[in-house]
Amino acid sequence: MANVGAESGSTSEWTGQRPVALPPGKTGLCYALCVGPSRVLSLSRLMSRVLITDSLSDAGLKLLREQPGIEVDVRSGLTPEQVREALQEADGIIIRSGTRLTPALLDGQKRLKVIVRAGVGVDNIDLPAATRAGIVVMNTPAGNTTSTAEHTIAMLMALSRNIGPASQSMREGRWDRKSFTGTQLAGKTIGVVGLGRIGLSVAKRCRGLEMTVVGYDPFLSAERAAEHGIELYRNVDELIPRCDYLTVHTPLTDETRGLINAERLQNCKRGIRIINCARGGIVDETALADAIESGHVAGAALDVFVEEPLAKDARLRTLPQVLCTPHLGASTDEAQEQVALEAAEIISAFLVRNEVRYAVNMAPIAAQEVPGLKPYLDLSYRLGLLLAQLNGAKAISAAHLTLRGEAASKPMKLISAAFTSGLLATALEDNVNIINAEMMARERGIRITESASTETGAFSTLVSATVESDSGELRAAGTMFGNDFLRLVRLGEYQLDAYLDGLMLVYRHLDVPGLIGAIGTTFGKHQVNISHMALGRERNEPGGDAVAVLNLDNEPSPQALEEVAAHPHVTGVQLVRLPPPGAPLPWLGL
Ligand code: NAD
Ligand code: MLT
Repeated sequence: MANVGAESGSTSEWTGQRPVALPPGKTGLCYALCVGPSRVLSLSRLMSRVLITDSLSDAGLKLLREQPGIEVDVRSGLTPEQVREALQEADGIIIRSGTRLTPALLDGQKRLKVIVRAGVGVDNIDLPAATRAGIVVMNTPAGNTTSTAEHTIAMLMALSRNIGPASQSMREGRWDRKSFTGTQLAGKTIGVVGLGRIGLSVAKRCRGLEMTVVGYDPFLSAERAAEHGIELYRNVDELIPRCDYLTVHTPLTDETRGLINAERLQNCKRGIRIINCARGGIVDETALADAIESGHVAGAALDVFVEEPLAKDARLRTLPQVLCTPHLGASTDEAQEQVALEAAEIISAFLVRNEVRYAVNMAPIAAQEVPGLKPYLDLSYRLGLLLAQLNGAKAISAAHLTLRGEAASKPMKLISAAFTSGLLATALEDNVNIINAEMMARERGIRITESASTETGAFSTLVSATVESDSGELRAAGTMFGNDFLRLVRLGEYQLDAYLDGLMLVYRHLDVPGLIGAIGTTFGKHQVNISHMALGRERNEPGGDAVAVLNLDNEPSPQALEEVAAHPHVTGVQLVRLPPPGAPLPWLGL
C-alpha cells in the first residue's frame, strides 16, 4: 500500500489535522439537503423560512403557506442591500425576473440553501456564486411555455399586420388604410433558432398558420426535428438566408449573446422580420435598430431587452417598424399561477423532503430516492474524508471514483460530489457540500473522474476511490452491509474489513507475532479502548507487510500514539477521524 503511515513516528500529521465537523443530532423536522457546517444548525429549527421578493400569484402563496414547516416572508421593493440582509434569515428564496441575485448578495450567505426562480430564465442569478456558496438553484421550466409561445405568435401576427401602429393611428383620430398594408403569413418561411420547449411550441403553431418552419438547435437531431415538421439546419448562417421571419428561443449564454449580429442581419433576406421573446441581447439591439433604419430589416417584435425595464437603445421603442412589449411572454393568469404553484411545490419539497427537482446546478433527487441513496452518499463521503486525512498535507492533483455492482445503478455525479465534499472538507474553511464540491475541486486544480460497472466482484456493491498526489497514489474501497453498516474493505493493496466510522487508528507494520498484543498493552496502559480491529496482509501468510485499522472508543494521547509509532515493527501510524456510525450527513440532515 502506498503512503499509508508514511509519516511514521510523527504525531504532527494527526494532531495538526482539523477535526471533521460532526453535525449535531437532528431534532424536530428534518430539513436541508445542502448545508455546510454552519447550516447544520438549521436542522434543529422547526420552521424553514422562504423569502419572496417578486410578485407571486395568490395560489402559489396559499400553497406555500399551507405547507407544514414553512414560514413565508413576502417582501417586495427591497434594495439589493436589504435583499442581502433578508437572505441571512432565509432558508430559501423565490424570485421572478425582478430580483437580481449577484455575487455581492450571495457570497457569505450561511443559511440560504435554495433559490427557486418562478419562471425559466436563471440569467438574473449568478450561478457560479450560488454554486460556490453551496446553494441549489431550481427553476420551473414548463409552467409558462404555452403562454410564451402564444405571445410569440401574437407578436408575429401583430408585426405582420401592423396592429400596433394601426391601433395607435385610430386612437389619434385617423382612418389610414394605406399605410398599414401587411404581409400574409401563410406560405412564408419562419426560422426558429432554439428548438426547446418554447421553440417547438412556436414551430407547431406556425405550421398551423401554414408557414414553412426551418430551424437550428445544436442539441436536436434532424430526425426529431422532422417529426415536428421542421427542416433542421446545421448552423445559423445557413438558416437565415432562407427566412422571411426569424424568431429566437435560446437561453442567453456567452454563446448566444449577439447571436443575431450586424453581419448575420445583413445575410438575411431583405425585408425579413425578427422576433425576440426569449432574452434581450440574443439579437444585437444596436445592429437591429441600424438594419431597420437602413430598410434591410422590415420590422421587429421584441418582448425582451438587454436592459430592463426599458430598452437601452431608445430607437427600439420609437421606430414605427418595431413592436415592443414589456417582457409579457409569461404574463398570463394561467402561466403565473402555474409557475407560482410549481415554485411553491419544489421549494417545499426541497426544504421538507430533501427532494431536488429542476435544479440547474446539481443532479435531481426524487424524495423516494433519498433513503436508498443516503448510504451511498455516506459511504463515498467517508471514503473522501478517510483519503484526505491519510493523504495529509500533500497536494492532490486528481481523484477517481469507481462504482461497482448495485452502486453503479445510483446517480454517479451525486455520489462523486459526496466523495469530493469529504475529500475537501477537512482542508477548506469554506462550507463544502454536494452542490459546490465539484466546482471547488476544479478551482483547486483537482481533476475528479468517475466510472461505473454493474459487474460485481467479491461484493454486491463497492465504491472504490483513488487519490493522486505528487507523492503517489492512495486507494480505498468500501461497501455496506444492509443500509447502515459501512465497511472499509480495501486500503491500498490490502483487503480488510474495518468499520468506517469514528476514531480510526491506521498503522502499517510487519506481520509478526506479538505486535497486536503490544499495541493492546500500550493502549490499555493509556486507557484507550479498542472497539474493533481489522487486519490486512500482503500475502495470506505471516511475516510480510500488513496494515491494521483499530476503531477506538476514545482519543489516544499524543504520548500513546508515539509509543505505538515507536514500536520496531510499526512502519507508519495515522489517526483518522470519521463521523460516528449513523451520523447525519452534514449537508443532508439525514
Ligand atoms: P429550453 O431550455 O427548453 O430551450 C432552449 C433551447 O435552446 C434548447 O433546445 C437548446 O438546445 C437551444 N440552444 C442553446 N444554445 C443554442 C444555440 N447557441 N443555438 C441554437 N439553439 C441553442 O428553454 P425554453 O423554456 O424553451 O425557453 C427559451 C427562452 O425563452 C429562454 O431564454 C427563456 O428564458 C425565455 N423565456 C422568456 C419568457 C418571456 O417572458 N419572454 C418566458 C419564458 C421563457
Ligand atoms: C421566464 O424566464 O420565465 C420569463 O422571463 C418570464 C418571467 O418570469 O418574467
